[in-house]
Parts: sequence; C-alpha cells; structure tokens
Amino acid sequence: MVSHGLFLILVMIAIVGSTNIVNARCKGTCDRLTLPYPFGFSDGCPIRLNCSMSGLPMIGDFSVKNLTVDSIFVALTHNCNRTIEDMKPLFGELYAPSLENAFLMENCTRRPTDGCSIKPTFLESQLQMKSCETKGNIRCFSLDKNTTKFFTMEDLRQSSCRLLFSSLTFESVALNAGVAVEFERVRLGWWLKGDCREENCSEKNAVCSQVVTPDGSSGHRCSCPESYEGDGFISSCRKGQCGLTSNRSCSDVEDEDTGLDMVGFYWSLTMTYVIVCTGFLVLLCFESPPRQAWFSLVDNFIHLVKRTLRYA
Ligand SMILES: *[C@@H]1O[C@H](CO)[C@@H](O)[C@H](O)[C@H]1NC(C)=O
Ligand SMILES: *[C@@H]1O[C@H](CO)[C@@H](O)[C@H](O)[C@H]1NC(C)=O
Ligand SMILES: *[C@@H]1O[C@H](CO)[C@@H](O)[C@H](O)[C@H]1NC(C)=O
Ligand SMILES: *[C@@H]1O[C@H](CO)[C@@H](O)[C@H](O)[C@H]1NC(C)=O
Ligand SMILES: *[C@@H]1O[C@H](CO)[C@@H](O)[C@H](O)[C@H]1NC(C)=O
Ligand SMILES: *[C@@H]1O[C@H](CO)[C@@H](O)[C@H](O)[C@H]1NC(C)=O
Ligand SMILES: *[C@@H]1O[C@H](CO)[C@@H](O)[C@H](O)[C@H]1NC(C)=O
Repeated sequence: MVSHGLFLILVMIAIVGSTNIVNARCKGTCDRLTLPYPFGFSDGCPIRLNCSMSGLPMIGDFSVKNLTVDSIFVALTHNCNRTIEDMKPLFGELYAPSLENAFLMENCTRRPTDGCSIKPTFLESQLQMKSCETKGNIRCFSLDKNTTKFFTMEDLRQSSCRLLFSSLTFESVALNAGVAVEFERVRLGWWLKGDCREENCSEKNAVCSQVVTPDGSSGHRCSCPESYEGDGFISSCRKGQCGLTSNRSCSDVEDEDTGLDMVGFYWSLTMTYVIVCTGFLVLLCFESPPRQAWFSLVDNFIHLVKRTLRYA
C-alpha cells in the first residue's frame, strides 16, 4: 500500500511538472538585449522573433532595428537579387508592412502609375546605393492611404516589378516638426489578436488602440501614456525604469513586485494537488473494479521498471 501511494505521488509530481513547462513565460533577452513584452524569443511570447548568432533580433533574414509602441523597424539593405517573394517573412500573423512605406522596385513591366519614380543617378550620387539597372527609373511602390492600413503580399505581387531593390519609410518626427524619411528600412505595424472591448489594457493603466488587421479581423495594441513606462500588457504603466527606453524588461520588474501573487499561485496548486490525491486514495480504499485495475496496472509498471533496471 505504501509503495502504491508513493508511486501515485510520483505520477502527480510528473504531471504538475510537465504543465509548468508548457506555461513557460516569455523570455525577452537575446544576448545583451532585452525586448519588451509582447516581443521575445521563447514560446510564451505572442510576437516571437529569432535571436541571431550575433545577438540581433531577426524576422527571417531581416534584422530588427527598433521597436516602438506601434511599429517594428526592419533593415532592408539594397540588393539587386531580392525578388518580391523574398519579402514573405515580413508579412506575419501579428505584423505587416504599414502604409508609411514605399518599396523601391526595378525591372517593372508596366510604367509606374502612382507613387514616385527615382532616377538611378540620384540614389547613386546622394545615397551611395548602386541601382540594378543603369537605364530606366526606379519605381516607388506605395498604396492609397484610405483603403487599408497595411500592405499585403498580393499588393507587392501586383506591382508588375520583379526586383525589390530597397525601401523607404516615413516617420513624423514630432508635431509640426516635419516628416523624416529613412532609406533601407521597412516599417511593420504590429498588433495582438482581439478587440479593444474584450481586452483589458485599462487594468494596466494603458491605452488600447484598435487595429484592423490585413485579413479584416480585429486586433489591438496596449501602450502606456507618455512619460509612463511599462508595456501595458503584462506589466502596468508606471513612472518607473523599465520598458522600451531601458535595458530592463518590465516583466522582470513585475516579478519582484508581485511576490504575493506567486504565493497565491503555489497555494492553489498545492490545494488542488492535495484534493486530487485524497480523492484518489478514498476511491482506492473501497473494494471496486477500478481499484483492482489500478493496482494491477501499477504492479505491471513496477515489474517493467525493475526488469529494465536489471538489464540496463
Ligand atoms: C525563426 O526561425 C524558425 C526556424 O528557422 C523559423 O521557422 C521561423 O519562421 C523564424 N521566425 C521568425 C520570426 O523569423
Ligand atoms: C527607436 O524609436 C524611438 C521612438 O521613435 C526613438 O526615440 C529611438 O531613437 C529609436 N532608436 C533607434 C536606435 O533608432
Ligand atoms: C547577386 O547574386 C550574385 C550571384 O548569385 C552575386 O554575385 C551578387 O553579388 C549578388 N548581388 C547582391 C547585390 O547581393
Ligand atoms: C530585367 O529584366 C530583363 C528582362 O526582362 C533582364 O534581361 C534583366 O537582366 C533584368 N535585370 C535584372 C537586374 O535582373
Ligand atoms: C479615398 O478618399 C477620397 C476622399 O477622401 C475618396 O474620394 C476616394 O474614393 C478614396 N479612395 C478609396 C480607394 O476609397
Ligand atoms: C476586464 O476584466 C474584468 C475582470 O478582470 C472583467 O470583469 C471586465 O469585464 C473586463 N473588461 C473588459 C472590457 O473586457
Ligand atoms: C544598458 O546597459 C548598458 C550596459 O549593459 C549600460 O551601460 C547602460 O547604462 C544601460 N542603460 C540603462 C538605461 O539602464
């Protein structure tokens, strides 16, 4: 009876242990860099990036240069071998190029109808970017602002161009301070699934922004008001020292503050465990078919283990 009880406890520990591994939380560190939630490098992160050998966050083969409350900035160095299909990794489940981009394309079959066109000599002399063809203009491919908020792969495919040479992105620097244009960057808008009406950003003192995702479903983003820090998702906004502007992930800070929550969590875990064990033992105290089936199962298992150990 004692060995059976012991066996039961071991089984329970194994089950509890394995569920803990499944619920592993988001790890935001890659080498010396720490990203704010919901970005990170482990399974628990909603927006999962890859950590390169050189310690840079990556989306596919593109390196991530900056993260802001609404955008991911990705490097897109000029390259004459890049086809439209090579852009696929940037169209993720929870991010996509936003309309503040213009893609520089070459080898187009149709004349550009909208967007701009740039003479290759301009890129070469002003920006030291060698264009792919010496004749013909480089087309900037952009979309109408009021149709949608994001590019889709289909938009790029319909451009009639074969090569995606580089990209430029627009960013308003500050109110009334003009717009900055960055070459060789793509700006991706990001979101998490769910409507602002269902999500509880306000519980974290954060502001919820509704996002209409490229597939038409609803998304949202939580962000902290200006001069507050935190991610607004899992850590509350506060006047503190964590988040986008600091090396410190807010989830690390949160852990220290919420020791009480963890105690509560372990308590409930222990109580569940005790209740389940008691229930099981009570069941075994009565002479019943389940009891016999259980004991024979356990005996068989113990024999199997003993045999295996003997031959090992
Ligand atoms: C990370 O790498 C894996 C394996 O190479 C790949 O399947 C996944 O798409 C990559 N994720 C991102 C965001 O690049
Ligand atoms: C990242 O973006 C923020 C907000 O736009 C900006 O203040 C910061 O300078 C950027 N960092 C880099 C490295 O570009
Ligand atoms: C394009 O590919 C060719 C060969 O595949 C290589 O020699 C060339 O350097 C590449 N050009 C760029 C800009 O990567
Ligand atoms: C552009 O397309 C033409 C054929 O349409 C091809 O001969 C040429 O090599 C292409 N240029 C580049 C840089 O791929
Ligand atoms: C964009 O908005 C303008 C006026 O604001 C309207 O005339 C035009 O039809 C809109 N375009 C699309 C594609 O909805
Ligand atoms: C926010 O969460 C509370 C409980 O945590 C819930 O009662 C409330 O309905 C939620 N609000 C929204 C808008 O989902
Ligand atoms: C970030 O980390 C570097 C070195 O790890 C340190 O020098 C710097 O002061 C840190 N910045 C902040 C804002 O903590």
